[in-house]
Amino acid sequence: MKLLIIGGGGREHAIAWKLAQNEKVKKVYCAPGNGGTFFEDKCENVNISEIPHLISFAKENSIDYTIVGPEAPLVDGIVDEFKKEGLKIFGPNSKGAALEGSKIFAKEFMKKYGVKTAAYEVFNDFESAFDYIKKCEYPMVIKADGLAAGKGVVICNNFEEADEALKDFMVNDIFKGAGKNIVIEEYLQGVEASILSITDGNTIIPFISSKDHKQIYDEDKGPNTGGMGVIAPNPYCTKEVLEQFNEGILKTTLNGIQKENMDFVGIIFFGIMITKKGVYLLEYNVRMGDPETQAVLCLMESDLLDLVVKALDKNLENYEIKWQKKHACCVVGASKGYPKSYEKGFEITIDEKIKGKVFIAGAKEENQSLKTSGGRVLCVVCKGDTLEEARENAYDNIEKIHFDGIYYRKDIGKIK
Ligand code: AMP
Ligand code: GLY
Repeated sequence: MKLLIIGGGGREHAIAWKLAQNEKVKKVYCAPGNGGTFFEDKCENVNISEIPHLISFAKENSIDYTIVGPEAPLVDGIVDEFKKEGLKIFGPNSKGAALEGSKIFAKEFMKKYGVKTAAYEVFNDFESAFDYIKKCEYPMVIKADGLAAGKGVVICNNFEEADEALKDFMVNDIFKGAGKNIVIEEYLQGVEASILSITDGNTIIPFISSKDHKQIYDEDKGPNTGGMGVIAPNPYCTKEVLEQFNEGILKTTLNGIQKENMDFVGIIFFGIMITKKGVYLLEYNVRMGDPETQAVLCLMESDLLDLVVKALDKNLENYEIKWQKKHACCVVGASKGYPKSYEKGFEITIDEKIKGKVFIAGAKEENQSLKTSGGRVLCVVCKGDTLEEARENAYDNIEKIHFDGIYYRKDIGKIK
């Protein structure tokens, strides 16, 4: 079998690595891939990204299945385009992808189908939003409707902060259209969890839970990043929390997907907030999380390709995903300065004695070595019988990786 993976981050490296473990797989093309997929067994990078070029590539190379990593091509309708050409592709069509592509659509969907979420209002013009922020309660949360590369959510503690965010989104148009319409929602206090799931449109199966660490500095200080580390399972996802999630969020979402005839085949990633008042859905993503995927796939015992094929065949009923009874800890090594500006082009050295798995994100191959090329450069995932053991292993091993200015948080998975 030949596979094509769309995307070039750490998540896609992990997906490629996991899919390549199926012995029927002869080749995994990664478009565009990165320095990690360049060196990964069975993988080959192809430097294409436009949908028509990807379609030609899939046809010319008799690709059996295409798997989409990031949200942007899904929202742009890559699945619809591939299907029109009779090509097999894993991911939601553009109608389903709107659950991530439009926060307004997602919130209205949640309300309509009784998915437990924060109270909210939608605004399409600055004047009415401005009137609202003069009298609303604080803190509150402003969200740009469209995709904003992870920067479209601002927590506002007072009127001044809300005023600034509103002007940025709706007047200065910093997201080039994506912030012209907004959601203002109730602030929820609690701990977050990421729960990925796979659905064939009829059955939905949650993956093991995980916990991202979004802020750049220890103790969750400083600005948000794409994610600085993950542990799986998430220690806050107790049996009671998972029961509430299943009833109030997972089942109601599947019901909505069916009622809306979305024909959703792919991944749904639930970003949830565990609060004293219960478990709430913050957002849907229609793809795997990064770096959640790197930790979660390291614990997946089942074959990922088998799972993807079963979903495409609408045959997930009765499927049981097997998980290792272990803990995983993923620590991200970032460029000095990230998430603000940073330098690139530093050589990465990885000690041969390293244990665990290193997934590459922002690094490319140059003359058979790895050079940094992004903010989040790589991550190391280690396992253990306990969370503490997984953490220790991850930190022992990230010390065996070097590049100029490597920065990582020291408290990934430290539970207060
Ligand atoms: P989202 O893209 O909706 O997940 O938002 C990004 C981040 O903003 C989340 O991971 C939370 O940390 C935070 N956030 C979003 N909505 C809320 C909310 N209603 N209350 C508190 N924090 C929120
Ligand atoms: N780690 C969060 C995300 O992938 O959106």
